[in-house]
Amino acid sequence: MSRTVNYGKSAFGNFLYLCLNLWLMFMATAASSIECDPKKCKGPIQHYHELRCEPIYKKPSDCCAVSYNCSHLSERSPYNCYVNGHVYNIGDKLKDEDRNNPCDIDCNCVKGFKDVATFTCAAIDCSIMRIKEGCYFKRKPGTCCDGEQICPEISEERTKCEIDGRTYLDGEPFYPSEKPELVCQCSKGYKGEYVAPFCEHISCGTELLRTLEIRENCAPVFYHSQIPQTSCTYGYRCQNYNDTVIHRITKISSNNVSEELTSEKLSSNKMCKFGNLTMEIGDELNQATDYSSVCVRCVCEVPPTPTCQRLPDNECDVTNHPLF
Ligand SMILES: *[C@@H]1O[C@H](CO)[C@@H](O)[C@H](O)[C@H]1NC(C)=O
Ligand SMILES: *[C@@H]1O[C@H](CO)[C@@H](O)[C@H](O)[C@H]1NC(C)=O
Ligand SMILES: *[C@@H]1O[C@H](CO)[C@@H](O)[C@H](O)[C@H]1NC(C)=O
Ligand SMILES: *[C@@H]1O[C@H](CO)[C@@H](O)[C@H](O)[C@H]1NC(C)=O
Repeated sequence: MSRTVNYGKSAFGNFLYLCLNLWLMFMATAASSIECDPKKCKGPIQHYHELRCEPIYKKPSDCCAVSYNCSHLSERSPYNCYVNGHVYNIGDKLKDEDRNNPCDIDCNCVKGFKDVATFTCAAIDCSIMRIKEGCYFKRKPGTCCDGEQICPEISEERTKCEIDGRTYLDGEPFYPSEKPELVCQCSKGYKGEYVAPFCEHISCGTELLRTLEIRENCAPVFYHSQIPQTSCTYGYRCQNYNDTVIHRITKISSNNVSEELTSEKLSSNKMCKFGNLTMEIGDELNQATDYSSVCVRCVCEVPPTPTCQRLPDNECDVTNHPLF
């Protein structure tokens, strides 16, 4: 008898526990749908930010953009340099107010490859110093290289910062999930706010240095471990003769489907551009047509730039490709 009662109690307890869990799960889902985590959105968003393309939302309250309006780029002259909405002539020096990155030093607008105007900056040699035991580097905000070496006294406590449930030590950089456009540094006096001098905007220098790639509708390529939403690319894939589009949407010969595709085609905001090729959402590029596309999957997700990412090594062998 008492066994049965106990059993009954515990079943009821389990039931309550299950209810509580379901409630918590529901609350967590509700909360996450209110908060907008840009890292969960698709597309090379950092690239669009750098080029100051305007996000286009299906509904104004949406978290993620369905496409970006980069139409201002097509109006650019190959004989000028552009940065932060300012126009430069060949021979002009980059103004301090347009330096987006502490390493943008001695930058000039010059006539570059294929005669396209671009900035070139001084090559900065951040000589890597050997780090002494028990010491660490701490970069001063607004400076280009690693900064000074700090060797705390043994008794001294190294400042700690708690961000997004992780602990960072004095001098260590972190990327707040709430503000993916910022890079911050744990430092004494940090009060949990994403403000200067602790936080700075991330700049990949795309607009400054990648004029030709932008003009030729090349796509930034990301490593498998990188987040295309918030990372700077390691390189670009540009079109060559052997590049083709693999159409993902099977074109069923129903009037409705083809009608929809035609109207999509007409609205350039629903197509990706890669060189002179156009891709519908879901379309992919073929792989291994040159070094930059070996084991690189490029999919049109959030137009106009396809999202290109290296496949993991266990899925694709980068040494196995045709001769280029
Ligand atoms: C894109 O932006 C330009 C201005 O830069 C504007 O004229 C155009 O209407 C926009 N296109 C869309 C589809 O929002
Ligand atoms: C598109 O680009 C390819 C490769 O760069 C080139 O061979 C081809 O002539 C171009 N086609 C058009 C229509 O411009
Ligand atoms: C699909 O096309 C048929 C005729 O081809 C039409 O009767 C129907 O309304 C269309 N459906 C939609 C959703 O547009
Ligand atoms: C590119 O296309 C040409 C001509 O069709 C072909 O000879 C060549 O092997 C192709 N290269 C690659 C890397 O596929």
